[in-house]
Amino acid sequence: MASLLLSLFAFSLFKIAYAAAPAGPIPRSVTWAPKSYGVEGPWWAVRTQLGTPPQIIDLLPGGSFQSVVLGSEVCGGTSCDAQTAGLYNSDASSTAFTQTGPPSVTNGTNFMTRGINYTFVFDTMSPVTNIEGAPDVHIPSFDMVVWTAGSNEFPGGSKYGLQIGNLALGATDINQSWPNDGEPRANGTLVPSFLFDAGITPSNSYGLHVGSVAMGIPPSLYFGGYEQSRVLGLVTAQDYGLNFLPIDLLDISIGVAVGNSPFDFSSKAGLLASGNASIGPALQVHVDYNPPYISLPRSTCDAIAAELPVHFEPSLGLYLWNTTNPNYTTIVTSPSFLGFTFRLNASISQNMTINVPFSLLNLTLTPPAVTQPTAYLPCSPLSDNGQPNLGRAFAQAAFVGVNWQTDGQGTWFMAQAPGPNTPSAPEGVATSLQAFDRFIVPSSNDWVDTWKLTWKPIGADTVHVNSSTPGVTVSPSPKSTSAPSSPISPGAIAGIAIGAICGVVLIGTGVWYIIRRAKRSRRGTGSSFNMLSPRQDPPIAMYHGYKRDGGFGPQEVHGSSAPGAQQMPTPQTKYYHREELQGDHEHPPKRNTRYTREGFPGEHAYELQSQEL
Ligand SMILES: *[C@@H]1O[C@H](CO)[C@@H](O)[C@H](O)[C@H]1NC(C)=O
Ligand SMILES: *[C@@H]1O[C@H](CO)[C@@H](O)[C@H](O)[C@H]1NC(C)=O
Ligand SMILES: *[C@@H]1O[C@H](CO)[C@@H](O)[C@H](O)[C@H]1NC(C)=O
Ligand SMILES: *[C@@H]1O[C@H](CO)[C@@H](O)[C@H](O)[C@H]1NC(C)=O
Ligand SMILES: *[C@@H]1O[C@H](CO)[C@@H](O)[C@H](O)[C@H]1NC(C)=O
Ligand SMILES: *[C@@H]1O[C@H](CO)[C@@H](O)[C@H](O)[C@H]1NC(C)=O
Ligand SMILES: *[C@@H]1O[C@H](CO)[C@@H](O)[C@H](O)[C@H]1NC(C)=O
Ligand SMILES: *[C@@H]1O[C@H](CO)[C@@H](O)[C@H](O)[C@H]1NC(C)=O
Ligand SMILES: *[C@@H]1O[C@H](CO)[C@@H](O)[C@H](O)[C@H]1NC(C)=O
Ligand SMILES: *[C@@H]1O[C@H](CO)[C@@H](O)[C@H](O)[C@H]1NC(C)=O
Ligand SMILES: *[C@@H]1O[C@H](CO)[C@@H](O)[C@H](O)[C@H]1NC(C)=O
Repeated sequence: MASLLLSLFAFSLFKIAYAAAPAGPIPRSVTWAPKSYGVEGPWWAVRTQLGTPPQIIDLLPGGSFQSVVLGSEVCGGTSCDAQTAGLYNSDASSTAFTQTGPPSVTNGTNFMTRGINYTFVFDTMSPVTNIEGAPDVHIPSFDMVVWTAGSNEFPGGSKYGLQIGNLALGATDINQSWPNDGEPRANGTLVPSFLFDAGITPSNSYGLHVGSVAMGIPPSLYFGGYEQSRVLGLVTAQDYGLNFLPIDLLDISIGVAVGNSPFDFSSKAGLLASGNASIGPALQVHVDYNPPYISLPRSTCDAIAAELPVHFEPSLGLYLWNTTNPNYTTIVTSPSFLGFTFRLNASISQNMTINVPFSLLNLTLTPPAVTQPTAYLPCSPLSDNGQPNLGRAFAQAAFVGVNWQTDGQGTWFMAQAPGPNTPSAPEGVATSLQAFDRFIVPSSNDWVDTWKLTWKPIGADTVHVNSSTPGVTVSPSPKSTSAPSSPISPGAIAGIAIGAICGVVLIGTGVWYIIRRAKRSRRGTGSSFNMLSPRQDPPIAMYHGYKRDGGFGPQEVHGSSAPGAQQMPTPQTKYYHREELQGDHEHPPKRNTRYTREGFPGEHAYELQSQEL
């Protein structure tokens, strides 16, 4: 109770601090939809407002370049599932701009989608939670591909309707521009670059942990920064590709974090290359959250499945949990996990591991994808030449962030994300990512502690993983006891209590969370928000941002290089780059992409402000 009062008190203090308009760029969060989506999830979704007057559209966060939005045509005149997340009608928006030319057909970005008809549309979009005292943020010409027809198809041929689109999280490009059949070029704006360009956030970046609806892990998405409590242990930083986040996967193992093993081994490594000599020391995978599954070579999925009470269902191309096998419940409630070991920082000698507890791999296929709810293991065997990808199921346990750069020096980050016992930071208590940061600072929280209240250790409560460095296995302690007991130390209880209250409320409805968000999103008048003025751009060495102790004010740049050494573009700097994209499912060949970056970000901010206010 004391903790609850304390948190309420902290909340009121926070609100007072928040009433003041921010004095400079700060990380900005999103509004989360009050319901979850996905017939293979469920997943949390971002609530956006599209067009003029605004149409409420929920989108799953993930992907790069243009966002996929489902158009009002997808239901073909009848009612269909996709309506739940909101369908976009460009004819009903006064600010919509549709690229000319006939609609095109593709199989879509998600390997399951087929027969997608699409057009490119640009419209005003509100992506971020509003801040009291600051004007609402409206992105002009938000870059969308509107799907007007299509379906999902399982390998066995059974189909189900499109469900929900995605909110893309930027690209190396600041903006995009396409030829438009003699008309003025079609210009599209991407969310994180717009926010940075307009001086609203400190960098063209994002930090995302999608969380888990079933396990009550709230989602976290910030532009221009990240929530530090979502980043645990070693952080790997590496280059990104044009429209994908590649990393070398070194191995997959099964382990147990605490207590006795539900398996007949305490840990088992070598699952990635098991039974497949053609997989060498590493397999390059992409981390793209739009596909729901973990897509790996058949041999790898089979090696994982061989240790679990699952069987392969060819018509779905997935493994179904045998829920009548008593080992199913034991495994998915135990502290056992699937460990993904990656190359750390593109190093040939260092690695890091992200542990995905089996409780997060107990996902459920629901109608209309299947006739009745079916528990499945989200390992999806690749067809020949398929690209290995760690999709949204993996993302439940992994923090991912990208700091986009136009100079080819951008970086993407990945780290272990926490479990359900995660402090829900008040809006705004996020860590800024500065424009040229190449690393992010993890929290000192212990990964095991974030799951402690949720999983059920078997027998003893001996910890087997080095929690501050989740990948590292420690040798079993000799003094393990056989009595299952609460592993929480008295000192930890106070700290956990607030998180536990949040966790309990979140499971099921998420009501508290939504109300909290709604309170934060009250509209401001805009009159006192002057951060967009270029004349007030802070000197390079000193950004104005949110101070972690509450309130806005100058914040020192934390970075590997001395602040003065940061290479901020001067107002004279001009970058121009033009690139023809090869045709593929994600980027049809008729499009090309361009980015320009002229001058200091504040220059554009001034123009935008005078247009909008
Ligand atoms: C879509 O996938 C089907 C097979 O599932 C294939 O026959 C067809 O050619 C593909 N269409 C496009 C446009 O790639
Ligand atoms: C999709 O586009 C193709 C080609 O333009 C067209 O033949 C087809 O009827 C469209 N499908 C739907 C459902 O609109
Ligand atoms: C897109 O940008 C180009 C170059 O800045 C400009 O010439 C064109 O008019 C713009 N298109 C629209 C529709 O505003
Ligand atoms: C359950 O797991 C144990 C330990 O791995 C194994 O010995 C046993 O055969 C399994 N039981 C079933 C019904 O699969
Ligand atoms: C073995 O791994 C390769 C990738 O290196 C993959 O293309 C192939 O399909 C795998 N074989 C099986 C049987 O999964
Ligand atoms: C599921 O497990 C039970 C108990 O071990 C077993 O009898 C049954 O055959 C299994 N079913 C499948 C489909 O594997
Ligand atoms: C597996 O997930 C489903 C859906 O969230 C849940 O109802 C079920 O209790 C879970 N199974 C176990 C053994 O926890
Ligand atoms: C990861 O690094 C540790 C220690 O450096 C090493 O013992 C282990 O074999 C490595 N794992 C993989 C899969 O490369
Ligand atoms: C990984 O790279 C980042 C950025 O270069 C660096 O800050 C970090 O210390 C590196 N981590 C390790 C363990 O070397
Ligand atoms: C756990 O990892 C940390 C950081 O790498 C290290 O300092 C510590 O000694 C490790 N603890 C054990 C028990 O291996
Ligand atoms: C990007 O697009 C926005 C909105 O159309 C525009 O205001 C801004 O000047 C563009 N930035 C660059 C660098 O082209």
